[in-house]
Order: sequence, then structure tokens, then C-alpha cells
Amino acid sequence: MGYTMESIIYFTFMAKVIGFVNQKGGVGKTTSTINVATYLADAGKKVLLVDLDPQGNASSGLGVDSRRLEKNLYHAMIMGLPPQEIILRTEKEGLHIIPAAQDLAGAEIEMVHIESREFRLHNVLRQVRPYYDHILIDSPPSLGLLTINGLVASDEVVIPVQTEYYALEGLSQLLGTIELVREHLQPNLKIGGALLTLYDRRNRLARQVVNEVRAHFPGPVFDSVVPRSVRLAEAPSFGKSILDFDAFSKGARAYKGVVREILEREEEEKKKLKVI
Ligand SMILES: Nc1ncnc2c1ncn2[C@@H]1O[C@H](COP(=O)(O)OP(=O)(O)O)[C@@H](O)[C@H]1O
Ligand SMILES: [Mg+2]
Repeated sequence: MGYTMESIIYFTFMAKVIGFVNQKGGVGKTTSTINVATYLADAGKKVLLVDLDPQGNASSGLGVDSRRLEKNLYHAMIMGLPPQEIILRTEKEGLHIIPAAQDLAGAEIEMVHIESREFRLHNVLRQVRPYYDHILIDSPPSLGLLTINGLVASDEVVIPVQTEYYALEGLSQLLGTIELVREHLQPNLKIGGALLTLYDRRNRLARQVVNEVRAHFPGPVFDSVVPRSVRLAEAPSFGKSILDFDAFSKGARAYKGVVREILEREEEEKKKLKVI
């Protein structure tokens, strides 16, 4: 295997950046980012969640009221403020956040005219990568410049897919965009996997959809499937992850399973590195 010395050092000392991406809204990006981040922190990892959506749902879902803050991701990406001045602790030990607010919507437009516009987030995160094990990015529901920044800054992407008929439709546009980013901007970008969300056990069709995605998605699919669960939908209004809101709910168990898969895969990757 052709690992360079540089990649080994990178692997050992730098956070892995995982982007949660799907241009469709309401598929569980934010819910997944919040809860995966929380369970990673619970496993003892140092985690930074980056809220890249001007709607700021990941921020509020973790109890951060970004309207009251003077600074958010916008100021790092556009004004060049050091990210250390924006990062906040959350109530979860080991989990930090760069919050988003409405002004980030302006960034999408302002960036069109600035230098290295696709690399703004990458350059922000480069400054803090040594301090974390994982950096998770919650992307907005579009394939605009903000999302492109998220892809360019990522090592791998997780694609939350709502378990519904035509689940795979619309993914081809996203996969095409990922391919373009790989060709022109970030050659090492990997597909970490599709994550099936909002699974309704009582719906006969849902099981078919799971099988269909497993058969046809061009990349790994997480074994864990996130069920539709009222508790998962309620938690953000209390500013809590599902771990803190209802650790024994089925949604909690699912996200714990997702994190177990992520960590197991990383162990496998590390073992491969040790062989050389
Ligand atoms: N597994 C789930 N079960 C029930 N409700 C969910 C689940 N995942 C997400 N939701 C709810 O569905 C809505 C959309 O989810 P969200 O994570 O915000 O999606 P996205 O970030 O892709 O737009 C939110 O109201 C959220 O609370
Ligand atoms: Mg969202």
C-alpha cells in the first residue's frame, strides 16, 4: 500500500474530517451530525462540530443560541478570524462547536468574488486539525459554494438517506458533485458511507428500500439504520443530543451503532498502516 510518510504523520496527528452531506433537506443530516459527534465524544474522542448551515440547526440543537453570539463561522470563513476565537464548548465533555448564524447565507454570495473560494473552510479547519480526533461538518441543503467548501474540507462524506421510495433518486447529482470535487479540488475525498435514516419498521416498503440502497449505492452503507423516532425529533428543542435526552431510546442505540462502525473502521485503517 502506498502510504507516504506525510500521510502517516497526517493520520496520526490530525483530526479526520467527516462531512454530512445531502442537498435534500429533512433527511437527517443535522440529527446525524449532532448525535454522531456526541457519541464520538462519549467514546473519549476530541470532537469539533462545524455548523455550515446558515439555519444554525446543529448549533441550536446543541443548546447554542447563535443569535446572541457576535461571531460565528462566517467570521472565520470570510473575515479571516482565527477559529480559536469562535469555537465554543458544549455541555458534552470533549465536544466543541463552531456555530453558524444567518450571516453565513451571505457568505455563499460574497465568496463568489473572493480568492480560493472553495478552500475557505479547509483553510479555517487546517488551523485546528491538530487539536481534535474528529471534525464533523453539518452541511446546508444545497450544492452551493458552502457545501462545496464542506466537501473540499472533508476527508470523507457520510450521506444520510431518508428510507423512502425513490431514496436513490437525487443522489446521482450529489455523487456527480463529489466526483467533480475529487477531480478538481480534493483528490483524496472518500465516500464514508450512506446512512439510512427515518426508517419506519411498520412500513413494508421501507424494508425494500433498505435492500435497494444496499444493492445499488456505489459505496459502503452503514449496517446501522436510524429508525424514525419521536425522541430523536424532540431532543433538539431541548438543546440536547439523544444521549443526554434519552440514552435508552432506539434512536440512541442506532447512533451509538453508527459510531461503533466508524471507530471500528478507523481501527482497521490503523492496522493497515502498521503493516508497512
Ligand atoms: N430518525 C428520526 N426520527 C424522527 N425524526 C427525525 C429523525 N431524524 C431527523 N428527524 C427530524 O426530521 C427533521 C429533519 O431532520 P434534520 O436532521 O434537521 O434533517 P436535515 O439536516 O437533513 O435537514 C427534524 O425536525 C428532525 O428533528
Ligand atoms: Mg440540517
